[in-house]
Amino acid sequence: MSPHFSLTTPLYYVNALPHIGSAYTTIAADVLARFYRLQGYQVRFITGTDEHGQKIERTAQQRGLSPQAHCDEIAAGFQALWQQLNIHYDCFSRTTSPRHQAIVNEFFQRVWDNGDIYLGQQQGWYCVECEEFKEERELLEGRRCPIHVNRTVEWRDERNYFFRLSKYQQALLDYYAEHPDFVQPPSRRNEVLSFIERGLQDFSISRVNLAWGFPVPTDPEQTLYVWFDALLGYVTALLEPEDEPTLTNALKTWWPINLHIIGKDILRFHAISWPAMLISAGLPLPEQIFVHGFLTKDGQKMGKSLGNTLDPFALVAQYGADAVRYYFMKEVEFGRDGDFSETRFVNILNADLANDLGNLLNRTLKMAWKYTDGQVPNVQGSAIPREHPLRQLAEHLSQTYDQRYRQLAFHEVCQQALTLARAGNKFLDEEAPWKRYKAGETQAVAEILYCVLESVRLVAYVLAPIIPQLSKAIYRQLGYNAEFNGSIAPDLLSDRQAQWGVLPASQPLANPEPIFQKLLLPATLADSP
Ligand code: MSP
Repeated sequence: MSPHFSLTTPLYYVNALPHIGSAYTTIAADVLARFYRLQGYQVRFITGTDEHGQKIERTAQQRGLSPQAHCDEIAAGFQALWQQLNIHYDCFSRTTSPRHQAIVNEFFQRVWDNGDIYLGQQQGWYCVECEEFKEERELLEGRRCPIHVNRTVEWRDERNYFFRLSKYQQALLDYYAEHPDFVQPPSRRNEVLSFIERGLQDFSISRVNLAWGFPVPTDPEQTLYVWFDALLGYVTALLEPEDEPTLTNALKTWWPINLHIIGKDILRFHAISWPAMLISAGLPLPEQIFVHGFLTKDGQKMGKSLGNTLDPFALVAQYGADAVRYYFMKEVEFGRDGDFSETRFVNILNADLANDLGNLLNRTLKMAWKYTDGQVPNVQGSAIPREHPLRQLAEHLSQTYDQRYRQLAFHEVCQQALTLARAGNKFLDEEAPWKRYKAGETQAVAEILYCVLESVRLVAYVLAPIIPQLSKAIYRQLGYNAEFNGSIAPDLLSDRQAQWGVLPASQPLANPEPIFQKLLLPATLADSP
């Protein structure tokens, strides 16, 4: 039985088409899902949309559409973007599905039976954009939300059902003490811990005067709070299409989820409310929550409500999926904020993918066509001495890259892989096989070319989760019939391909063709000083 790995992105609000922030999380999750598949795991990669609540209800109203028609349209927009970005999810969970309602009701009942839901009075400042009550001291001047700085919060005073979060304060602290890696990176774990230690308050899980949501099972006059239903979307996503929608069915194979990837703005929901709800319902907790930073523009979170986003559809149409995937994985350390600049985008891709990697393959293949009859040189990789500079670097890469992926240190994977590509270029320049060929040193030339081609192959392999199309193109030029999408052929699994010396001697090569065309800066940017 192959090992299992289940992971999720957040379920995105459908108040507007996806922006680059949603794409960022989803790319990272897809990279990890692809990595685990290459490691031989069975993977369940869940993404989807969060469709209830006031924010969505209002947006649909403004557009003159029924909420469901609005949600259908935007959910389709998310799926279209994921296709363009080459995202291979296993399940797209929509919180308006009838199956989801059955799961939510059953879960609610468990928490209810445990005595953790009661009726109380909710007073406070509400940010509709966050769908969250804010404490007065968190607010910016003019009662504005600290995350949606152009929106004021609204006063609420209503009778709601509450979830007894305060009851779980100690259980959560104990859990955190026993599971030091539950929330990553450590700075986010500390943030959660100090929040819990300040004292947890019960929170309301229902709304009045809101039609767009599931009715509270025990009181249909009230509507369930969007976050209560949204988090359970992760559970509904685990049902197989033929399953009856019951908790037992949903949890039988993939629960607990191995990894939730989220942005820092939704940390408390995932790291406090969600575990407490699960403990109340008597369910095991997810294994890990990884929290990434924000993509910013001029230092501010890019977002739909601030209107300072980048259009991912346009970015992919202009530069291609692999370019976008590579840039965000390489340039922004996962866990920290990162600013986007189009000039930097173009420069990085040209330097790394067009020059260091693409050009290295292209020039080496051309030489192989001249000097070794269009074949991988007749050299055994295992015969190359261990101290060979490329073999040394390659072996270091193959020994460390999987740990980096498991830690979600994608930028380090890219940096290390590129170090090998750069070393390959330097090695070629220094060894000058074109001169040595003229001098009749054919064995030396064969070895040089073999080592460089094998290095390029390994770089392509290690980066395949990030740039699957480019890696496939590289593999094809090296004479493989490879495919890094869909189900993985057994001979592409990592126990073999991640090693040094895998490229078969004398394998026929394909014709050299540039794998990555140099990008041009848009004219407006190119002209500016
Ligand atoms: N619907 C909730 C999540 C429910 S999960 C059960 C939600 N949706 S969201 O669409 O507003 O945000 C989804 C994710 O996108 C969050 O993790 C958020 O951090 C991320 N991003 C939104 N803007 C972002 C940036 N500018 N940069 C990086 N990620 C950001 O919250």
